Amino acid sequence: MHEPSMAVKLAGVELKNPVVAASGTFGFGREYSQFYDLSELGAICVKGLTAAPRKGNPPPRIAETPMGILNSVGLQNPGIDAFLAQELPFLRRYDVKVIANLSGDTPEEYGQMCEKLSQAGVDLIELNISCPNVKAGGLAYGTRPDLAAEVTRVAKAHAGATPVMVKLSPNVTDVVAIAQAVADAGADALSLINTLLGMRIDVASRRPILRRNTGGLSGPAVLPVAVRMVWEVSRVGLPILGMGGVSDGDSAAQLMLAGASAVAVGTACLAAPYAPLQVRDGLRDIAARQGLSSVAQLTGAIQPW
Ligand code: SIN
Repeated sequence: MHEPSMAVKLAGVELKNPVVAASGTFGFGREYSQFYDLSELGAICVKGLTAAPRKGNPPPRIAETPMGILNSVGLQNPGIDAFLAQELPFLRRYDVKVIANLSGDTPEEYGQMCEKLSQAGVDLIELNISCPNVKAGGLAYGTRPDLAAEVTRVAKAHAGATPVMVKLSPNVTDVVAIAQAVADAGADALSLINTLLGMRIDVASRRPILRRNTGGLSGPAVLPVAVRMVWEVSRVGLPILGMGGVSDGDSAAQLMLAGASAVAVGTACLAAPYAPLQVRDGLRDIAARQGLSSVAQLTGAIQPW
């Protein structure tokens, strides 16, 4: 079998392969660098950043579910300045693209953070407008086309030449309306899906398992929702980073066939640190078996009924 080319482009950024470590399950890469060379990945999307450091929500904030997990982490992170001072220099030791995921309380805060990240030379900015676990910002912006567009416009005005990707929530009735609004506001790419709002209850105590009652569901259970939403959103015409339940070559290939240019591996990393490499190798095998010269030929190649 011939070796297909694994290189892809996402919003003009060249990735050596389509596999991205998803935000929130890979930290800043330090722990995973003990297992393998981070340069093996297409890109690393760092833990979600906020303007000030955040402790996150009180525990319990992770709960297992059939084929997935619920989280209500609440954007725990050291803050953007600590990221720029300590974590970005560490990541720059590797030949891997760096995507910075950020959340703000106001459009202006998104703008200020974009300016810092762009000046620091990150490769791509991912605007999180879809975190279900915080009161201000987050999902509040991701469920209304007008607010999603406003955040995107302000971010683009401050991001200089750094491409801006907007992370969409599945917790909406019409994801295409949100995608179209951010596309019209100048977004360079879309990433989806963030987690699905969910809940678990301990029957004996009658208490929700998560201290904040609800959380975001991720893992293999959400893959069909992600595939459907990527397919719907592909009609908007922006490059897509697909995610939601990616754990092997087949799940990654489904998202690419639906329209994704690259895929992010999230929850799978928590159980299997090598999951991103297994996804990459699985994608390569599928492309080779199908006689493709490049894995990029999977993107949007679905044959719908
Ligand atoms: C969290 O930190 O609560 C998860 C981030 C997200 O869902 O966007």
